[in-house]
This record gives sequence, C-alpha cells and structure tokens, in this order.
Amino acid sequence: MRGAKLFFTVYSTVLIVSLVGKTSSLENLSLTQAEKQKLDQLKDAVSKINFPVDWMQQELTFVRYLRAREWDVRRAKSMLLETVAWWEENKMKDIHKEDWSDIEKDYPLHTDGVDKLGQPVMVMAYAEWDLRQAAVQGKITRVIRWFIKGFDEIHSKSLEYRKLGKTNGTQWNFIADVDKFSRQQHICVQCLRFYTELAVSFESRYPGGVDKIYAVNTPSIFQVVLSLVNPILSKGTLNALRVLGTNKE
Ligand SMILES: *[C@@H]1O[C@H](CO)[C@@H](O)[C@H](O)[C@H]1NC(C)=O
Ligand SMILES: *[C@@H]1O[C@H](CO)[C@@H](O)[C@H](O)[C@H]1NC(C)=O
Repeated sequence: MRGAKLFFTVYSTVLIVSLVGKTSSLENLSLTQAEKQKLDQLKDAVSKINFPVDWMQQELTFVRYLRAREWDVRRAKSMLLETVAWWEENKMKDIHKEDWSDIEKDYPLHTDGVDKLGQPVMVMAYAEWDLRQAAVQGKITRVIRWFIKGFDEIHSKSLEYRKLGKTNGTQWNFIADVDKFSRQQHICVQCLRFYTELAVSFESRYPGGVDKIYAVNTPSIFQVVLSLVNPILSKGTLNALRVLGTNKE
C-alpha cells in the first residue's frame, strides 16, 4: 500500500524545472498533475494578452500567480491583468531610466550581492533612510517608487543571472539592517504608507519572488512595522521572514 501510494505521488507530480533549467533552487518548482492542468488553462486564458515585459509571460510567473491565488485560474488571470495595467499606469518601462539623483544618495539600496546559490540580494540600511524627512519634503511617494524600482531590479537580476547560468536559484533575498530604527525617523504617520504600499506592491506584482528576508539588529519598536505588514503578507513571505534581534551572536 505504502509503495503504491508513494509511486502514485511521484508519478503524479511533474517538475517545471525543464522550464527554468537544471535547478537546486529552494523554490518549490514541482506541480501536481492537477496544478499542471491549471497552468495550461491559465496559459490558454492569457494567450491573447500583449504582455509589456517578458517576465510576465514566463511560466514561472504564471505558477507564482496561481499559487498566490490558490490555483484559481480566473483570479490568477485577473491578478496578471492588474499587473499589466499597473505596469502601464506607472510607466514601469521607464522606471530605471528616470532621473533618481534627488533620491539615490539619501535612500541607498544595494543590489550587487549574491547568496551561496548565486541569487541576488537587496540590502537596505534603515540608519541611512530618513523617512520622516521624505514626508516633510513631500517625497514619500517618490521614495516608495524608488523602492519599487529596487524590487523590479532585483527581480530582473534573479531572472537574468539564471539565464546566464550565474545562479542555481530562481529567487532573490532581502536584508534590512534595522539598526538605528527610530520612532522619530521611521514611523511618522505618513511614513506608514511606505511599509503598507511596499508590502502590497510586492505581494500583488512580484509574488513568490523572495527566498529569504532578513531583518537584522532589530529593536523591539520595529514590531510596529511588523504588525502593520503582517496581515498584508502571504504565508510564503512570512515563512521567508527571519527577524533577528540586536544580539550579535
Ligand atoms: C511542492 O509542491 C508540490 C505540488 O504542489 C507539493 O505536492 C509538495 O508537497 C511541495 N513540496 C514542499 C516541500 O512544499
Ligand atoms: C550551481 O550548481 C553547479 C552544479 O552543482 C555548481 O557547479 C555551481 O557552482 C553552482 N553555481 C552557483 C552560483 O552556486
């Protein structure tokens, strides 16, 4: 009985690794037969859509969107359509060519590192980010967009590195150094939008893209941010999240 059951499980699971190449990725790229059928249905349902950017029509994206919508093909399709509309409305095509000179020095985001698998890592140090100042200067919306540019960059890198054989993973990581996080600088009323809008953007546009999120040197006051984004984040993202305190060991 056990043997028969095991055989059935193995037999009824297909790997989508053929789509992304040989992998030692940590992302679960197995699909059951039923899930493979949903994937085919979604592919059919969106075959007439003119996607503005290549990653949106990759099978990996379809699988992530289906997972985000619990394999409901209709809802995954609307989610994709919303992303297409969002891409156009927000002129995402040009986001990397915009003049960011007013922002980049004061709100540094680093995307050059990689983890052991070769997956790219985005690093942000809270100490250098003065969100209150952004609020006072009326720049919060712009700072949010700057961070979304970061999402898009790290996401594109994860796909590009994979294509070039520079990574064995399919995802990316985020490290936030929460050292010097303060009520004054990081949780003004307007600043809260920064956390909620980024959480929403990530879950609705780049779902499943992150392997690990580390918050390091985290003071207890950071709990305010965690409580704020907790209801927005998916189970997968919460599983990826590691909150490490200020104890260096
Ligand atoms: C990976 O996904 C497959 C298909 O949904 C599922 O059967 C399997 O349990 C998952 N494996 C892990 C480790 O989550
Ligand atoms: C990817 O895996 C191959 C085979 O296991 C290994 O030789 C290579 O060093 C790995 N690349 C990275 C970037 O981890």
